[in-house]
Amino acid sequence: MTTPQPSRRAVIRGSGSALPARRVSNAELTETVDTSDAWIVERTGIRFRHIAGEGETTATLATEAAQKALAAAGLEPGQVGLIVLATATPDQTFPATATKVQTALGINDCIAFDVQAVCSGFLYALSVADSMIRGGAADVALVIGAETFSRILDWDDRGTCVLFGDGAGAVVLCAETALDTPDRAGVLSVSLHADGRHNDLLYVDGGPSTTGTVGKLRMKGPEVFKHAVTNLAAVLREVLEKAALTMADVDWVVPHQANRRILDATARKLGMSADRIVVTVDLHANTSAASVPLAFDVAIRDGRIKPGDLVVFEAMGGGFTWGAAAVRL
Ligand code: UT7
Repeated sequence: MTTPQPSRRAVIRGSGSALPARRVSNAELTETVDTSDAWIVERTGIRFRHIAGEGETTATLATEAAQKALAAAGLEPGQVGLIVLATATPDQTFPATATKVQTALGINDCIAFDVQAVCSGFLYALSVADSMIRGGAADVALVIGAETFSRILDWDDRGTCVLFGDGAGAVVLCAETALDTPDRAGVLSVSLHADGRHNDLLYVDGGPSTTGTVGKLRMKGPEVFKHAVTNLAAVLREVLEKAALTMADVDWVVPHQANRRILDATARKLGMSADRIVVTVDLHANTSAASVPLAFDVAIRDGRIKPGDLVVFEAMGGGFTWGAAAVRL
């Protein structure tokens, strides 16, 4: 019989989040957009979103979230070896916003880059950081989702501009080497997908290599909705199966916060109780790559998610891209 060997895992040791100072209600939006509080609440569950003001950017929000995550983990910026930042709204086309965050944190040398998978960005970033930590490239990683979607919205398109908000969320991943036990903490499994054939259902109509402009967000909402429910239910099943777990083992699902009706429909499809789903879409709207870590941080800080809990993250967005991760805290 072979003796079990210790293995290296990436463990979440802290989280943080940041929101722009300005909070905008549905009622305030009706002053400039042909919409109503009743329509937005009934169709999406959204009541508020935060909108970045002057001086607030993806990098400043990401930096604040990262500082809080490091404080929660009891670590200093100098201990960070890797920053992976998921965003579709970088401060500049290049360099990577992750390098601005690095400098703002006072770190002179570490690995730092951005990941672009729109609303699934945090899942992609978490997967990359998890692999790099397990492979030995770093011992401490900051995984950040940060966006300022308000800057790429067409404020004359009521079908999209009421749905999104700005914000950032971050987690600190630390390498830990131990023998495997069923309740051992760490990232247990990740499933990622992309299908570029659906580019035209959710995209930005500009870019450096095509129009030379930043462009505005365009979405065929009802079609995205149908794909979202199907793909999210499938990837949740898949990620649990990979970790030899079932829905009954899950304490909390932290989903991408696009639409309350998507969360409810996915839960129904999986036969899952709605009181195990973290919902923040009412307060933050859809913050794209920031939405999963932002919701996670809210549920950590209000005491819902506790050490030892099994948490599943899931998201779906432009591309299409979609993914899920099962993590033991
Ligand atoms: O984060 C990436 C993933 N994104 C998503 O998952 C978004 C998925 N899609 C959705 O969440 C929903 O499809 C929306 C919230 C975008 C739209 O909800 P819907 O129930 O699918 O509405 P709809 O687009 O079919 O529009 C229904 C009606 C239309 O009017 P008519 O044609 O029935 O007269 C729209 O013009 O609602 C109208 N409408 C609005 N009315 C008031 C669309 N936007 C608004 C608005 N205020 N803001």
